[in-house]
Amino acid sequence: MKTKQLTGIILAGVTGLVMMGMVACDGDNTVTGSVLKSPNLVGADFDYERSLTGSGDYLNVKDLLKDKAFRNGFGFPNTGNEDLDMQEAANTFSNASAKLGRILFYDKRMSLNNTVACGSCHHQSLGFSDRMSVSVGFGGRTTHRNSMSINNPVTFNNLFWDSRAQSPMDLSLRPVFDHIEMGMESDEMLEKKLAATDYYGALFQEAFGSKEVTRRKVSLAITHFVSSMVSMNSKNDKVASGTAQFTAMEKMGRDLFFSDRAGCFNCHAGSNFSAPDQPGGLYSAPTVAGTANIGLDRTYTDNGKGNGKFRIPSLRNIELSAPYMHDGRFATLDAVIDHYSRGIQAHPHLDGLLKDNNGQPKRMNFSAEEKDALIAFLRTLTDVSFISEPKYSDPFAN
Ligand code: HEC
Ligand code: HEC
Repeated sequence: MKTKQLTGIILAGVTGLVMMGMVACDGDNTVTGSVLKSPNLVGADFDYERSLTGSGDYLNVKDLLKDKAFRNGFGFPNTGNEDLDMQEAANTFSNASAKLGRILFYDKRMSLNNTVACGSCHHQSLGFSDRMSVSVGFGGRTTHRNSMSINNPVTFNNLFWDSRAQSPMDLSLRPVFDHIEMGMESDEMLEKKLAATDYYGALFQEAFGSKEVTRRKVSLAITHFVSSMVSMNSKNDKVASGTAQFTAMEKMGRDLFFSDRAGCFNCHAGSNFSAPDQPGGLYSAPTVAGTANIGLDRTYTDNGKGNGKFRIPSLRNIELSAPYMHDGRFATLDAVIDHYSRGIQAHPHLDGLLKDNNGQPKRMNFSAEEKDALIAFLRTLTDVSFISEPKYSDPFAN
């Protein structure tokens, strides 16, 4: 009882900090696994293989994994490169392994002191982001950058704000061993901790044919779960497939987004309104890479991929993932549009698409109505089924 109360206070403390957006150390790393909740596995056998799209058809997640593994499908120009890790992920994918990945994603035991799970910084209702400009890790310290929303990660070859992860497999364990995010210290520690629970044995058995917990299986299961996070059922997707219609305001915003004057589409391109690192393929501007400097500042303290270039983020579910930019500097979409409208700074590496004919930062000078229209269009990228889909929800919540 005493331990339970103590844990309650510590957890309430952490939540409080998260909500207030403050930096502090909770000062206690002794919370033990035994007082944590177990996942609710009743009815947890979902269909992770198929994902609904705006046309009413289903995409097959295994196919997406295979495309990624051979880097010649969906959004990727044919480079001839093969990704052996992703091939293994494609070959081992099953509903059972994605289900295991879901439990791991939400299990606080994945952090050194049982206080933080992937889901602590990636909330489904917020398009798998959080409300903070920077997030709080297992020891109360803050991350260097804004938590990113998660959607269609299997289609990217440039994950994270600086594009440092080339696939979900490459990304899957980085947060777990990150000294700010989850702080796990060794493979052995992770494996022992998970094996000590009364539920992982059966879940690993079901997913991979043996009870044994290994780093590799954990990585694969997380990859399977996040790769199943397919969001392709927004109003914009439905309009594209002829099953819904824009309002006049949304249409005006869409036209502006795709106009040469605003030029948003040059970078926020393709199905995810983003861009992979290799230009070409499905994307509109052949010269655009997956990162750009958009002139947020005249000098950058965080240079991202170099020269102040950051990943061109997906705009799917953008309405839900405030605050915005790599450092969470803008609280609203309104503030983001103001930046493009009149706030772009002259930086030696400012992207050419954001300069005028004289090489000066572009001034788009949107009217109030144009701003509202752009925001109305951006809101059509919200996928309500994605954020309410039980297969992505937190199994520890009740
Ligand atoms: C303490 C908060 C925190 C935790 C815990 C956390 N993340 Fe993140 N996540 C972030 C931040 C911050 C970023 C951006 C980091 C950067 O760019 O350097 C990010 C980025 C990502 C991205 C990149 C999305 C994109 O489109 O590029 C994915 C995917 C992701 N996290 C998945 C996970 C998974 C899986 C876990 C658990 C194994 C996890 N995260 C744990 C905060 C967190
Ligand atoms: C030159 C390429 C480029 C162009 C053109 C561009 N963007 Fe961006 N956009 C980016 C990059 C890169 C970021 C992230 C910058 C950062 O965090 O440092 C971004 C960030 C954003 C974000 C915040 C995303 C998030 O998750 O925080 C929104 C919203 C956005 N852009 C909308 C637009 C709109 C609307 C337009 C047109 C008026 C536009 N962008 C034009 C490259 C571009």
